[in-house]
Amino acid sequence: MDNKNSLLHICPFFQYEPDVGLAFEPREHDWTEIEYWEMIAKWAEHGRFDAIFFADFWGAARDPVSIRNGKNFPMLDPLLLVSRLSAVVQNLGFLVTMSTSFYNPYMVARKMQTLNHITNGRIGWNIVTSVNQKEADQLGMTLPGHDERYERAYEYVDLVKKLWASWEQDAVVNDYENNHISDVDKVHQVNFDGNWFSSAGPLAVHRHPAGDPVLVQAGSSPEGMAFAGKHAEIIFSPNGPDHVKKARVEKLRAAVSDAGRDPYSVKILFPIGGCVAASRAEADERAAQIAESVPDEVGLSTVEGLSGFDLLSHPIDTKISEIVDQVTGVRGLFNMAAEKGWTILDTARFITNRVSDTRFVGAANDVADSIEAETEALGFDGYMFRATYFAPHYVRDMSTMLVPELQRRGRMRKQYETNTLRSYLA
Ligand SMILES: Cc1cc2nc3c(=O)[nH]c(=O)nc-3n(C[C@H](O)[C@H](O)[C@H](O)COP(=O)(O)O)c2cc1C
Repeated sequence: MDNKNSLLHICPFFQYEPDVGLAFEPREHDWTEIEYWEMIAKWAEHGRFDAIFFADFWGAARDPVSIRNGKNFPMLDPLLLVSRLSAVVQNLGFLVTMSTSFYNPYMVARKMQTLNHITNGRIGWNIVTSVNQKEADQLGMTLPGHDERYERAYEYVDLVKKLWASWEQDAVVNDYENNHISDVDKVHQVNFDGNWFSSAGPLAVHRHPAGDPVLVQAGSSPEGMAFAGKHAEIIFSPNGPDHVKKARVEKLRAAVSDAGRDPYSVKILFPIGGCVAASRAEADERAAQIAESVPDEVGLSTVEGLSGFDLLSHPIDTKISEIVDQVTGVRGLFNMAAEKGWTILDTARFITNRVSDTRFVGAANDVADSIEAETEALGFDGYMFRATYFAPHYVRDMSTMLVPELQRRGRMRKQYETNTLRSYLA
């Protein structure tokens, strides 16, 4: 399909990962300082990106490899971080992750609608069902099975939407002279009584004029895709070979259509690492350093986390095809690894080497060519750029080198003409 006239949708992607320890210049701040995150937000706004995305996991707590290497541990609470960052930029959107398996739906409805007010309509919720019992261990609970997680998620999101809708848009009157702050007839009880969740309602937070928070989803199983088809406005899809990505894009568009929605109203984004530099030679040189910068032990523990079972009880030269049936986590990744004949170690190196796809390493012109060619050939809408080196510099380099090239080609906005996240997706 031809996306030529449409804007690309690109979000820098973070998971609070100080394992991106590589820096090509002196660091102004450490990842432990709030200024590090402020630099990222400011450079992302400079690049006129739609939003920055914060993933969230806390399951690495008892893993010495994660603690030593700073792999997803420690991690600030992204919601609270965003509440600060949204004050240092005017237009940039923020996507935050909260799990339907771990949080109470009333609290999520309340927190997200509060963030909607704090950010003035620039917030999105990445709805995850979670894959890792180690996260559940921190809360003293057992993670439900895969399909039940999605059954609960449907009910959960229905309830969250009902709580948001419990306030009509014009319910707040603010007639101070007559002591009439909100119109009682426009604030509704919810009286939701589901299989898993219940709430009396109404929500304790009024609606924002920009509409409710944007919904994001990243499931890749048939259940996950059907769920995204019903609810998501942005879909994050896991990376993979081109034919797998193309098939997934088609399935996702079909899932959106099956839910009675316009399949092209939803923006489908894939993660990308990449490296843009002043010349192809410099980018290649940087890519070689990036590839070596993450120790194998980090990749191995990441892959185990994504598998959803104790993968590392097998020797690291075990073929994924021999154990793929035991995967309860991110199945798409492991199916691809099995198809390619990879071992556990190969898969770990693939996961940590975010510049393995050489199409996205080069001067701005080279990478922009690859981005245009791939989005057009596979029919998706954009990318989440995941930093491959010191994140504030990475986002700066993307914003000052790649973005101007994409703007010149009419594929990214030159200015924000509106100021809400949903309007950027239109
Ligand atoms: C780009 C991307 C980002 C994700 N971010 C998170 C996250 O922050 N937290 C989380 O628990 N899961 C995250 N996931 C996992 C998905 O929500 C989902 O659970 C996983 O892809 C498995 O899909 P399935 O449950 O449909 O099989 C992410 C997945 C992708 C592709």
